[in-house]
Amino acid sequence: MDRLKGKVAIVTGAASGIGRASSKLFAAEGAKVVCVDRAAGVEDTVKAIKEAGGTALAITGDASSEADVVKVVDTAVKEFGKLDIFYANAGISGGGQRPFFELDASEWRAVLEVNLIGVFLAIKHAARVMVPNKKGSIVCTASVAGIRSGAGGGPYSASKAGVINLTTTAANYLAGTNVRVNAICPGIIETGMTKPIFDYAKQRGTADKIGQLNPLKRYGVPEEIANMALFLASDEASYVNGQHIAVDGGLTSSMPVTGRIGR
Ligand SMILES: NC(=O)c1ccc[n+]([C@@H]2O[C@H](COP(=O)([O-])OP(=O)(O)OC[C@H]3O[C@@H](n4cnc5c(N)ncnc54)[C@H](O)[C@@H]3O)[C@@H](O)[C@H]2O)c1
Repeated sequence: MDRLKGKVAIVTGAASGIGRASSKLFAAEGAKVVCVDRAAGVEDTVKAIKEAGGTALAITGDASSEADVVKVVDTAVKEFGKLDIFYANAGISGGGQRPFFELDASEWRAVLEVNLIGVFLAIKHAARVMVPNKKGSIVCTASVAGIRSGAGGGPYSASKAGVINLTTTAANYLAGTNVRVNAICPGIIETGMTKPIFDYAKQRGTADKIGQLNPLKRYGVPEEIANMALFLASDEASYVNGQHIAVDGGLTSSMPVTGRIGR
């Protein structure tokens, strides 16, 4: 129950899905959590945390706005005294299912602004307060879409590949500071982002087919990503740095074959 005891954390994208589950878990493990989202639902996350006996505050803001990220980091320090953990999780899928060659630059920019530049801003301003403190853990949500094609649209996949690279780059720019940077690559998780996929499958009676391509043969739930975020955020991961870790039921562990020799 005390894996983050005494720590102060920021979680972006905290109104829904992975961010909400992570905020609740961080608080349950003893962290004081600054929950950030551009959606008003972030207040509900904080309400749930407080009802469970935890400490949290809500900020409505845009993870891709530098002014908002500055405000979020400065509020964490002002209200809770320091910053130990920044979970840069907010993201958008963007582009929908539009054909790749029909996308225009504005659609690319919209996705990169949130998914990639937003993560850069999180790292930049988290580091600003963590480096003088000589300690910190920055966790980013990338995606299996950043490892291989076929799990999202072009801008989304490129943005997540960018997050993976940013994680390694930032970890090395932060050499000697004791600030760690890692990324999580979720597979298919039932959240607000994937709701259209789940709704469509449920309507067709094929929801049990979602996730069949990974060896666990099921989709994931936000709490399974939150568990990895908790580990990376905590001192248990004190020697884990510059890594991207897939939490995907094994999806990225295999070539896309339809059966297994010997089975
Ligand atoms: N669900 C999946 O299958 C899956 C797989 C891989 C990666 N991811 C990533 O996980 C992260 C969390 O997504 P989720 O699946 O929980 O989806 P979600 O839609 O349930 O939650 C995302 C939250 O981010 C918020 N948000 C979006 N843009 C924002 C911005 N500019 N500023 C502040 N808040 C913003 C949204 O309002 C929303 O509350 C995203 O980065 C997403 O790309 C999700």
